[in-house]
Amino acid sequence: MCGIVGAIAQRNITPILLEGLRRLEYRGYDSAGVAVMTAARQIQRVRATGKVAELEEALRTDPATGAMGIAHTRWATHGKPAERNAHPHVSDGLAIVHNGIIENHSALRSRLSDMGYMFTSETDTEVVAHLIAAHYRQSGSVLTAFRAALKELHGAYALALVHEDEPDTLYCARMGSPLVIGVGCEEHYLASDPLALLQVTDRFRYLEEGDHAQLTCDGCSIWDARDQIVERPVQQYEHAALSMDKGEYRHYMLKEIFEQPQAIADTLTGTLGDNHVLTAILGPDAESRLADVRHIHIVACGTSFHAGLVARYWIESQVGLPCQVEVASEYRYRTVVVPDNTLLITISQSGETADTLAALRFARNEGYLATLAICNVAGSSLVREADWRLLTHAGPEIGVASTKAFTTQLVALLWLTTALLQVRGKAPEQVARNVSALRSLPGVIGEALTLEPAITRLAERFANKHHALFLGRGPHYPIAMEGALKLKEISYIHAEAYAAGELKHGPLALVDEDMPVVSVAPSDSLLEKLKSNLEEVRARGGQLITFACESIKQDGDQPDTIALPQVDEVISPVLYTIPLQLLSYHVALVKGTDVDKPRNLAKSVTVE
Ligand code: AGP
Repeated sequence: MCGIVGAIAQRNITPILLEGLRRLEYRGYDSAGVAVMTAARQIQRVRATGKVAELEEALRTDPATGAMGIAHTRWATHGKPAERNAHPHVSDGLAIVHNGIIENHSALRSRLSDMGYMFTSETDTEVVAHLIAAHYRQSGSVLTAFRAALKELHGAYALALVHEDEPDTLYCARMGSPLVIGVGCEEHYLASDPLALLQVTDRFRYLEEGDHAQLTCDGCSIWDARDQIVERPVQQYEHAALSMDKGEYRHYMLKEIFEQPQAIADTLTGTLGDNHVLTAILGPDAESRLADVRHIHIVACGTSFHAGLVARYWIESQVGLPCQVEVASEYRYRTVVVPDNTLLITISQSGETADTLAALRFARNEGYLATLAICNVAGSSLVREADWRLLTHAGPEIGVASTKAFTTQLVALLWLTTALLQVRGKAPEQVARNVSALRSLPGVIGEALTLEPAITRLAERFANKHHALFLGRGPHYPIAMEGALKLKEISYIHAEAYAAGELKHGPLALVDEDMPVVSVAPSDSLLEKLKSNLEEVRARGGQLITFACESIKQDGDQPDTIALPQVDEVISPVLYTIPLQLLSYHVALVKGTDVDKPRNLAKSVTVE
């Protein structure tokens, strides 16, 4: 998705802008550009299609230096990837960059065309540039013109603006797309993601919905949607110490898979007592009100949705609370029946996913008891807007395919299940068992990672495959779904997951000697049922690849079975995720795809 970086200082800021864009590359984009205010008080714009490296190349032939500037990576929505559509867009001495979608761009475009403005791109962003210019002609004040334009926009935006008539002032605004202000020493920065600015600061002011701001080297004024001056406190960024490079690993995804024992240990730090969980971490009044919860609704997208599906099995079987799980893009547009005392849980790695955030905002008027965000980014919109928060501590996840964010979400959800049990005074033995199982996870995941060589060999079998099936039962059905999603997103192999019992109701027709069938087969109460389903596949010549526990492996000759450590059933969904992540990673290597930045995808989906 698009990325924004901006800076104002008393030095050349072009290197800061470029490093910021490089740090946002993982989010996916197709073109990039900068606009810098030169010493001659003129905006110099340089744009290029392709990677940030191509923009750097363009800047070598056309150097742009100055003490204030804005920069952008674009992920095409309106208009194909092309230099003319790349940001910044300019009009009458101003330049802007924009994330989000302006929904009323067509009406504004025809009005501005009638006024004589010429359009050079197909973007909705150029409309905003001309709109601000039109208002500036009337008011002669950049701030007034910016405000007037913002009031006319429908849709989502994070915007940054520079104007030649005010060469020492940077403007920005947010509505529906994230934007933070970085605070330096007599310098200010802005970005759509704090990660872009960790090169220069770890102190941020987080803009709220509808805010707009004016930045100078040593000043920062912020106004809310009613143009009232507001204070947004400076906050220290939590993950500032974490490394953002790949280290010894070939890809971020592999690094992040191997970081899981540490990420899980970090997520559990400070959350567990001897035989109980420390519920006070949820937020001020959460501990007492958790006992009032009678129903749970979970809303999320993609991998985070799969984490919610696993949690439903835990919550319903252990706590006995009805739990409904739904993708955010459906939930936000339908009539939802909310019984009394329902807790809404949103799950998101980034905390900026447009559909999940919109679902949380929609839920505010639906009569929920409370809203809880499970999230990996402390300062994200989702965390700031929910009543309660449960942070995962996976550290920055750069690979588009979510790995350590997913397993830490599962850990948070099992912790929450345990908290719900505990506050009801129910099943202290189950509480203690969950706590001990959670504690064992980092070690167990470490063991599972040693399976990599065996999984690498299995991956070669997918070299000429175009389809695959994934099977699981109970809480391992969503794990099979997650395995299928991982495989399709990074290897481009079409993969579908089925609850194994559904096989004979249709998908069995697909099974022949060309169809790999990956099954998740831990030693649980459903194992015998699953074995019968696998026999149905074997009888039709399907290529079975099974992830099972050690005792099954010893149960006769199973050449295509990979054995995992025997663990408490409650944590096996977390454990069985690991080999599926490794499988999709190694299949992607065999297929030669761009593992960390798969085609057409973006890391943080901030538009609908
Ligand atoms: C996971 O591999 C995906 N890239 C994607 O499904 C992701 O989980 C989804 O877009 C939700 O993101 P979030 O957790 O940041 O909200």
